[in-house]
Amino acid sequence: MFDFTGKKVLVTGSSSGIGKAVALEFARHHAKTFVHASRSMEKAQGVCEEIRKEVPDADVVPIVADFLKDDVADVLYEQTGDIDILVQNVSIQYRVAWDEITDEQFADQINVNLRSSLKLTQKYAPYMKQQKWGRIIYVGSIQQHQPHPMMAVYAASKDGQMSLVKNLGKQLAPFGITVNCMSPGTILTPRNEKVLEIKEYHDACLAGIPAGRLGKPADCAGAVLLLASEEGSFINGVELLVDGGAHLL
Ligand SMILES: NC(=O)c1ccc[n+]([C@@H]2O[C@H](COP(=O)([O-])OP(=O)(O)OC[C@H]3O[C@@H](n4cnc5c(N)ncnc54)[C@H](OP(=O)(O)O)[C@@H]3O)[C@@H](O)[C@H]2O)c1
Repeated sequence: MFDFTGKKVLVTGSSSGIGKAVALEFARHHAKTFVHASRSMEKAQGVCEEIRKEVPDADVVPIVADFLKDDVADVLYEQTGDIDILVQNVSIQYRVAWDEITDEQFADQINVNLRSSLKLTQKYAPYMKQQKWGRIIYVGSIQQHQPHPMMAVYAASKDGQMSLVKNLGKQLAPFGITVNCMSPGTILTPRNEKVLEIKEYHDACLAGIPAGRLGKPADCAGAVLLLASEEGSFINGVELLVDGGAHLL
């Protein structure tokens, strides 16, 4: 159904987990896809190789940029040039109680999860405006709806990001640009592999998902492609939850 021929897409944090699954689907659907890792070019190259094994004619380009650095938007832009679709998927998550979180941990999460979303949009939206076509998708979280005692600041950063989605969705709509959020529930990725090995935690997560299973990274990819597609051009300023119904409980 979806065809991204001629489109360039940057999926940040696509060296792992959800971003990697999203990058694979964009490549499968003919987008030129920038595969991004934080610091290791070898890691980004390795993911490009994996994608080429599945999609032999994939147009995938490895890049690196550290979101903890102030110049992340410039560093990314130097490697990608203008793009049509931005998927801002990188986040930092510290599992720390609200009354123990340090200033540094607070700043990292707000800078990476919220401030970079704005900085990247500032960098990439001008070309989209000029082209009168663009798609901006931020990756949110079920945490925006279900308070977790160890992730108050992480959730606040994602809520702030959703506020940007609504505000920028309204402001950029006249230029043919949509701004949306895809919020995963519990998805089994390297980020939470360890904690999900704890049986009690795993079972408690499962009990909170009406679908009766944890999510897979691939579950998120179709939702992102829909938001990025021509077919999704009338969807703007929304949060699309991909959580097996967890927000219903
Ligand atoms: N997994 C879940 O259950 C879940 C639930 C709700 C929301 N989410 C959201 O989904 C998104 C992806 O999560 P995931 O579980 O797929 O994570 P993941 O497997 O841990 O992957 C994280 C990605 O972000 C990159 N990254 C981390 N720190 C970075 C930094 N300082 N600079 C640049 N890149 C950095 C990593 O790059 P390197 O590997 O190269 O360091 C990697 O590509 C995040 O926004 C997360 O908040 C996930």
